[in-house]
Amino acid sequence: MTDRFSTEINKDVPVAQEGEFAPLRLGEGQVTGVLDVWPPVVLAPMAGVTNLAFRTLCREYGAGLYVSEMITARGYLMGNRLTSLLASSSPDESPRSVQVYGADPVDLGEMVASLVDEGVDHLDINMGCPVPKVTRAGGGSAIPVKPRLLARLVRAMVQNAGEVPVTVKMRMGISEDLITYEEAGKAAAGEGASAVGLHARTASQLYSGEADWSAIGRLVEVLDVPVLGNGDIWEPYDALRMMRQTGCQGVIVGRGCLGRPWLFRELAQVFNGEEPDLPPRFGGIVEIMLDHGRRLQALFGEDIGIRQMRKWTAWYTKGFHGSAAVRGNLMRIKTLDDIAQAVQQLDMDEPFPVTALRAQRAKGSKTQSVKLPEGYLDNRDDDTPPKGPRSIDEIQAWEKALNGG
Ligand SMILES: Cc1cc2nc3c(=O)[nH]c(=O)nc-3n(C[C@H](O)[C@H](O)[C@H](O)COP(=O)(O)O)c2cc1C
Repeated sequence: MTDRFSTEINKDVPVAQEGEFAPLRLGEGQVTGVLDVWPPVVLAPMAGVTNLAFRTLCREYGAGLYVSEMITARGYLMGNRLTSLLASSSPDESPRSVQVYGADPVDLGEMVASLVDEGVDHLDINMGCPVPKVTRAGGGSAIPVKPRLLARLVRAMVQNAGEVPVTVKMRMGISEDLITYEEAGKAAAGEGASAVGLHARTASQLYSGEADWSAIGRLVEVLDVPVLGNGDIWEPYDALRMMRQTGCQGVIVGRGCLGRPWLFRELAQVFNGEEPDLPPRFGGIVEIMLDHGRRLQALFGEDIGIRQMRKWTAWYTKGFHGSAAVRGNLMRIKTLDDIAQAVQQLDMDEPFPVTALRAQRAKGSKTQSVKLPEGYLDNRDDDTPPKGPRSIDEIQAWEKALNGG
């Protein structure tokens, strides 16, 4: 047993051997161009989270692919101001990666062509969103139930993507009675998707329980394009374990990095064969919080930036002694100075608590019964696009509801 900073399950996991893992190669053998990613680590697209501010912060610690929040095709095409802001990037963001959401091939094609003109380097489509408002209309995680519809959507993207690799992100299926990932993965690869990301839970599981990594291994067996494994990477060693157990070619990291952007440094280190640096102590984390807050304010303006920062303060302070008592004040911050004020009584020297490594961050343990349109399962060969929102108001209501895959 080593004395490394990790939970018990990861105490003896060896860091990568030289040559053990290859860069993630997107686009090999496809009509699109090739993009190599090292380490084979992808920041999961997360609505309300992976905006430019957080992406650039994470990128300063590590390397890999940092995917944007999901951008809805309709909102983007109608020039919605916030959607455009969320799709935005800085000139030095490279590779630039955007997740799109849409269920209409014409919209998707048009959006993709426009993003490619803007200089995007990688495009992902969200087919895992479990939100009732979306699945009830046949969107999000309902799409893989209909492989011919999925194929149409991927085709529309690939045909308009030029050299830019297109990937698909999905869940295992609707529920354990309706598992779709193998068939859907094959349909996506058959239309030119460069990789398939699998969040190894069903839509009805939402974020509860443990991700079923064996499904990732199964998908690796049946696909001839790379598989990106997703679910429950909380410590850098989890990524190594997932790749060793499943044979997947890359990992997607979601909740584990919320309030822990240095996780990307740790991931880069273990993939490069090094033991990772220790996480910052509390005082260092306060500095990172302030830096993050400044970046959010620069992107969204002072007021929206600080409001956005509130949820982050809970993630950054999670598990530190006395943090629960100051959380109320943190949720009311109006300026960055309020952050420093709120935490001043806490111990700046406290090391990062090991108990916070695997603690729940965002999303709870609820499950759901997934809502599908009436008669949706009667004809799974149907490739008719579901009816999406059209007016600005409808689009805004959707964008508000769309908060997860
Ligand atoms: C706050 C939040 C927002 C999310 N938004 C999206 C999204 O916009 N698109 C998507 O494909 N998945 C989204 N997800 C799902 C994540 O990308 C990822 O699949 C999921 O969190 C499982 O990975 P994890 O166990 O590493 O967190 C979201 C997850 C969270 C926690």
